[in-house]
Amino acid sequence: MKRWMQYVKPYMKYFILGPLCMIVEVLGEVLMPKLYSLIVKRAEENLVAETGDIWFVIGMAASMILVAVLMMLGGVGGAYFGAKASVNFGSDLRLDVYKKVQKFSFANIDKFRTGSLITRLTNDVTQLQNFVNMLLRMFLRTPGMLIGAVIMTVTISPKLALVLAISIPLLSALLFVVMKVGFPRFGAMQGKMDALNNTVGENFTNIRVVKSFVREDYEKEKFAAANDDLRSSAMRAMNIMILTQPVMMLVMNLTTLAVVWFGGNMVLGDTLPYSDFNALLTYINQILMSLMMVTMLFMNASRAAASAKRIGEVLDETPDINDDSAAHKDISVQHGAIEFKNVHFRYYKNSPDCVLKNINLNIRAGETLGVIGGTGSGKSTLVSLIPRLYDTDSGEVLIDGVNVRDYSLHALREGIGMVLQKNLLFSGTVAENLRWGDEDASLEDMRAAADSAQADIFIQGFSDGYEHEIERGGANVSGGQKQRLCIARALLKKPKILILDDSTSAVDTATEAKIREAFATTLKDSTKIIIAQRITSVMDADRILVLDDGKIAGLGTHADLMQSCAEYQEIYSLQMENKGVSANG
Ligand SMILES: Nc1ncnc2c1ncn2[C@@H]1O[C@H](COP(=O)(O)OP(=O)(O)O)[C@@H](O)[C@H]1O
Ligand SMILES: [Mg+2]
Repeated sequence: MKRWMQYVKPYMKYFILGPLCMIVEVLGEVLMPKLYSLIVKRAEENLVAETGDIWFVIGMAASMILVAVLMMLGGVGGAYFGAKASVNFGSDLRLDVYKKVQKFSFANIDKFRTGSLITRLTNDVTQLQNFVNMLLRMFLRTPGMLIGAVIMTVTISPKLALVLAISIPLLSALLFVVMKVGFPRFGAMQGKMDALNNTVGENFTNIRVVKSFVREDYEKEKFAAANDDLRSSAMRAMNIMILTQPVMMLVMNLTTLAVVWFGGNMVLGDTLPYSDFNALLTYINQILMSLMMVTMLFMNASRAAASAKRIGEVLDETPDINDDSAAHKDISVQHGAIEFKNVHFRYYKNSPDCVLKNINLNIRAGETLGVIGGTGSGKSTLVSLIPRLYDTDSGEVLIDGVNVRDYSLHALREGIGMVLQKNLLFSGTVAENLRWGDEDASLEDMRAAADSAQADIFIQGFSDGYEHEIERGGANVSGGQKQRLCIARALLKKPKILILDDSTSAVDTATEAKIREAFATTLKDSTKIIIAQRITSVMDADRILVLDDGKIAGLGTHADLMQSCAEYQEIYSLQMENKGVSANG
């Protein structure tokens, strides 16, 4: 509760004004039938006495108009303040959830999955926001109407009020059942929405792959399945609502029938004035209406509670990679010497096999280390431990002799330029994309970095050069161009450690060689780790690391490894004998 209060506090005045306005409306609603019955009563008396009393009627009519105007003002004010309060509540909450997700590590995101995070951020927050709105408009109004109408009924005819003693408990019991059954079903429904969003998200981000493999039909089926799942779980949840309405109507109609029956007899027997009977019917109706609204409120509450729980899970998740206990928050990466000490790592903490097994490795500052090995041998995993995209399970990773966990995350990542295997550009101009590496980079800085990455050549070829618009994900540049832009972006950071994870796979060998030559001058003192599939990409590195199934199979110069490392020899002979296979553009 405390959690949600922090989103209420800044808008307290709307949260108070809204319900207050609704009280004005409800007072009017309760008063109206009474005023009406007073006129009717007077008319009855006058009929008996046969004297006209027009001024009384006019006076009463005027008060009724006044009450109606006040009711309208209250209604409008209530809706206005209610909307203001709930929309602000929702947008603040959404922002906080978003900020929280930004702090998540890769492992945190793996745990929730992107689709689910999107549902929680959008749909779940909206559910909660709608509920807050409804609550503000109903929570004083409904009980107010209920209590007011019950009081009126009892004062008019305590005998007839007895009918309510049966129907109100009956309806309350119904309410309880609705809550009990509804909550888990709404939770399940939101879960299915996650699954759907996961499917949609994956398909839309990879739409080009889907099309090129002509997998639209398969994807359609996958979507249809997720959609069917959502439909049936939504129906299960909705069934409760659908069933509740007619049952409540039945109880309400029976109650009205009983009041008409008993009340009618009382009027005929002259124990109840007709005017009172008339007002009574209106009050009974109000009581039943407000019970109906309470039901709706509760049904929405069970839906909102399911959403609140899901939002809470995101807000409660501790980003498992943080620098709260870092011992040297003030230092930055100085030289870029890297050491792996007895490092073990696995993605799923319950899986028996480690992805990295007892890695011991020393990389000197300024060294160029090539990394080679089959797919799935753990190359990407190994380098992701350096900027703490993941943390080791045991053992430690040190930079310049300091555990990476002891740097502030900002300083650590500031010192490392990394081009991920699955690299991405954002929508925006070339320059905007490059400035991810350095916000204040001048055009000269950008050109220098792009030149080293062999990107300046083709950027100049765009009619608008560095102002050329890149589409989302870099869809309108070729694979090799995208890789070169990503390298330029990393170079702009002037990192002490540069990591290229298979980042030149789509660049031709001649251009790739030029990029490597440029590193030798522009990044002379930085440590360079270059993961590659092609042996030619790493052959002239200072040393080459050969990974095999999460273990170090060899480490040394090309000449060393050709002598001593069987795995390396195998890769070499495979690639050199089938040159055509490894070269691509
Ligand atoms: N995010 C992840 N979650 C779970 N398993 C992963 C993840 N990334 C990689 N793996 C697994 O870890 C192993 C090593 O992967 P990776 O380091 O990407 O290999 P490489 O880069 O050498 O091809 C593989 O078996 C892969 O399936
Ligand atoms: Mg990889």
